[in-house]
Parts: sequence; C-alpha cells; structure tokens
Amino acid sequence: MIYINQLSKHVDEQVTLKGWVYNYRSSGSLVFVEMRDGTGLTQCVIAKDDVSESTWEAASSLKQESSLEITGTVKADDRSIGGHEIHVSDVTVIQIAEDYPITPKDHGVEFLMNNRHLWLRSQRQWAAMRVRNEIIFAIHTFFQERNFVQMDSPIFTGNAAEGSTTLFETEFFEEPAYLAQTGQLYGEAMAMAHGLIYTFGPTFRAEKSKTRRHLSEFWMIEPEMAYYDLEMDMNLAEDMIRFIVKTVLDKRANELKILERDTTKLQALVDNPFIRMTYTEAVDILTSKATAQMLDDMLASRKEEEKALKKEREEIKKEHGSAKKWRKKQIEARQIEIGARLDQIEEDYRNIPKWKKSAQEFEWGNDFGGSDETVLTMQYDVPVMVTHWPAEIKAFYMKRDESGKHALGVDVLAPEGYGEIIGGSQREDDLEVMRERIAEEGLDESVFEWYLDLRKFGTVPHAGFGLGLERTVAWLCGLSHVRETIPFPRMMGRLTP
Ligand code: 4AD
Ligand code: MG
Repeated sequence: MIYINQLSKHVDEQVTLKGWVYNYRSSGSLVFVEMRDGTGLTQCVIAKDDVSESTWEAASSLKQESSLEITGTVKADDRSIGGHEIHVSDVTVIQIAEDYPITPKDHGVEFLMNNRHLWLRSQRQWAAMRVRNEIIFAIHTFFQERNFVQMDSPIFTGNAAEGSTTLFETEFFEEPAYLAQTGQLYGEAMAMAHGLIYTFGPTFRAEKSKTRRHLSEFWMIEPEMAYYDLEMDMNLAEDMIRFIVKTVLDKRANELKILERDTTKLQALVDNPFIRMTYTEAVDILTSKATAQMLDDMLASRKEEEKALKKEREEIKKEHGSAKKWRKKQIEARQIEIGARLDQIEEDYRNIPKWKKSAQEFEWGNDFGGSDETVLTMQYDVPVMVTHWPAEIKAFYMKRDESGKHALGVDVLAPEGYGEIIGGSQREDDLEVMRERIAEEGLDESVFEWYLDLRKFGTVPHAGFGLGLERTVAWLCGLSHVRETIPFPRMMGRLTP
C-alpha cells in the first residue's frame, strides 16, 4: 500500500490505495471515483471493459464516503487533481457508506458544525488542519532551535491571571478551582529555573461573547525569558511570526491553494519589518482625518465594484439560456462567486460606517475593539505592534514605564483584519510594586504568595508573550472564523460534537 501524496514516485507502476470515496460519478461504462486517503485526493477511473464482473459490480455500488481499496496503474495527468490518474484493475469495498449527510452542495454553518466529526473530511477543513499542524511544528522548531525549554503548565489553577470576568470555575476536591486562562505565571517561575522557556497548551476563557475571534478553549504558546526587556520580547515575537509564515508558505502551498488563500500579503511580511507604534500613536491614527478619508474611499470603491458585478451578472444571465453545457456550468459557478462577493459588499456597507464612527470617536484610555484593530491594520501589509498601553486596561503583572501611566505591554495585530494574535509584556519585577498592583486589582494576595517569591529570590527583568494558535491559523488560512481552525471548537453554545 502507498499513499496518494507519494504517487509521483510511482508513475506507470501498479499500486494499491486504501481510503474513502470523496466524489463519485458514473457515465455508462465508466466510473470516476475521486478517492481520498488522508494525504490527498486522486482520480480513479474504472472502465467496465478493463475489470472483472465482480469488480465492476462493486464499483457501481459505491457511494460518497464508502471505504475501499483500489489497485491500479498510476498515470501522470496534468488535468487531473493532484496531477495523476489511477487506471483501476481491482476494487475491494470495505463498507458501502450510508447516505452521507454532507454533499457537495451548500450547507449552512450550523449544520456543518453539528456534523463537525464528518465535516473534518472535507477538503478545506482538511487543508486548514494541515496548516495548523505545520504551524505547531514550526513553533516548536523555532523555540527548540533557540534553546528554549518547553514546559507544561497546570490546567487546574487557584487564581485568576487575566481578569476575573472570564474564569471557568470548577471544583478541585471540594476546593474552588479555575481552568487556566494562561500558563504565564508558572512560565515565569520556570524561566527563573531555565532562563528561556515556552508553554504550549490549552487555555480557557469564559467570555460571553460570540465573535469570530473568540473560543472558550484555545491553545496558547507562551515564551518567557529571563533578562529580556520589552524590546527584546518584541524582536522575538517578530522573528517567530516571520518564521511561522515562511514555513507555512514553503511547506503548505498546496493547502493554501485549496483554501484559496491570497498569499501576497503573507509574502510581504517575510521581507519587511513589522510596524511598531505606541498606543497613543495608534489612537492618533484612528481619530485622524486620513483614516476617515480612507474609509470613505473604501465605501466608494465598493459601490463601484457592486455596479460592475451587477452588470456582469445581468450579462451572463442572458448568455446562460443559449450557452453550451460546459459554459453553462462556468456561468453558474461565476454566479455563485458574484453572489458571495455581493453579500460581502452588503456587509461592508453595514460595517464601514460603524467602523468609521468607532475609530473617529475613540477616546484615549479605552481598549481597542475588533473594528478599531481592523481599521488600524488595514493601512499596512505587515503586522502592527502596539506598545505602551494605558496601565489601567492591562494586567496587574505588567511593568510600567517611568511615567507610571503606561504598561510596558505589546499587542501584535495581524494584517487583513485578523486582529490581536499576540499579547505580551515586560513583567513587574519589584516585590513592593507587585504587591500594590495585586491590592489595586482587588486580588487575594494569599493565592499569589508563590508568585511573589519570584520577586524575593533573585528577581530579574523578564518578559514574555502569548500567541493564540487558532487566531494564527485563521489568519494564515484566510478563514473568517476561528471555529474552523481547531478540530472540535468549544465556544458559547457549542459543546458537541
Ligand atoms: O492577550 P492575552 O490575554 O495574554 C495573556 O494571556 C498573557 N498571559 C500572555 C503572556 O504574556 N504570556 O492572550 C494572548 C493571546 C491573544 O493575543 C489571542 O491571540 C489569544 O491569546 N486569545 C484568544 N484566542 C481565542 N479565543 C479567545 N477567547 C482568546 N483570548 C486570547
Ligand atoms: Mg490581549
């Protein structure tokens, strides 16, 4: 047995493939099976004249997602999916599948999410999971090559670290406990033992918001470095993101193609430095006349586009009636494309004025909303790193600058409206200041005793950040919602499958 992604090494040889029927089509004395085996897709052609009667019977009985073994000769064929075609000599059916609920037609998202366990087999979902896997491997490679020690932080914790409003409360032998919102505090302890560490684990947030960027359970990568300041922290974050993007572009070009990802903007950041600005500078940009103008221009260009698309739609509709069969198909595909784009434009009409209002009325001291991040990052092809946040809106553990007004924190905002993918900071390393912060936040100091010890026994400047894996996958794959970036998403209203 070989796998579909090895076919190029077996051209003109006889091979056996084991997998499933992805697509099935029969015409007279030919059956076409698009077969998938986990590594890819290939077209198998079964000709009645070339196979035994029992094989032909088996082939004719196949249905979508039936499991089967196919033996045949590999032929190079540029027009065929994956560049090969199998001329089949034998078919062994493992199981004829029941009527498969997910058919090639359009399904609603709710339906697909309810069938997530099956939806994972579809091409786009398959591609996204492969990109996710590549990102995970790239992250480990990046840190391991730089002498970081991977550590596992606990999931049951006794305290909040990222605000008390998003805690999942549970019970730990009759004691209240919380699912970890972050591994950072434990990472800080390990960094004092190993210098350079990173966590890679699940984290939990009980945000009662249903947005395309929020999961209740997501995976976070949190490096923590002794003797690092904010700038070194930012340099590391930038290097890491560039490394991830480069790796995915190099190794997952096929998957990105399946996902129809336009990679020009990803390419741009490989060779260009990220944008760095303070929060105050970012607010100035949001509230500027230039930003208002940019959004007005965007709205105007959407109006132009809408006009052109509607004109095209009229024209091809007229053509459809008398078109040849192949052209009819082409027209119908284009009609679907136009429809989707018009829906998108419709949404932009609703959104852009809201974005403009939110940006123009933004007041210093507030946190950025999703749309503010979008408006800010729209202006660049590379990620934007925003630093020096109003201390009040950032976590208690962040060190402050000399004025005391700003937290030495950084948010990395991905381009193309994918929002915050990294939150990081230099940490408060002074015992007394840390005590004050904990008190100011109304946190119970007793649960932080061990954390305060880190400031008693050889405290040093240190820094770290947290990368959200799913938001990174969404960005690199060009997916509009994080629900498609993890095999089984957990979010408000979604606990099964
Ligand atoms: O900005 P956050 O809350 O930072 C921390 O948790 C720090 N302790 C990290 C550190 O300095 N070690 O979260 C970090 C990242 C965000 O930028 C985002 O990418 C992701 O985690 N994230 C979420 N992803 C999906 N769903 C959610 N509900 C998320 N909340 C945060
Ligand atoms: Mg954050």
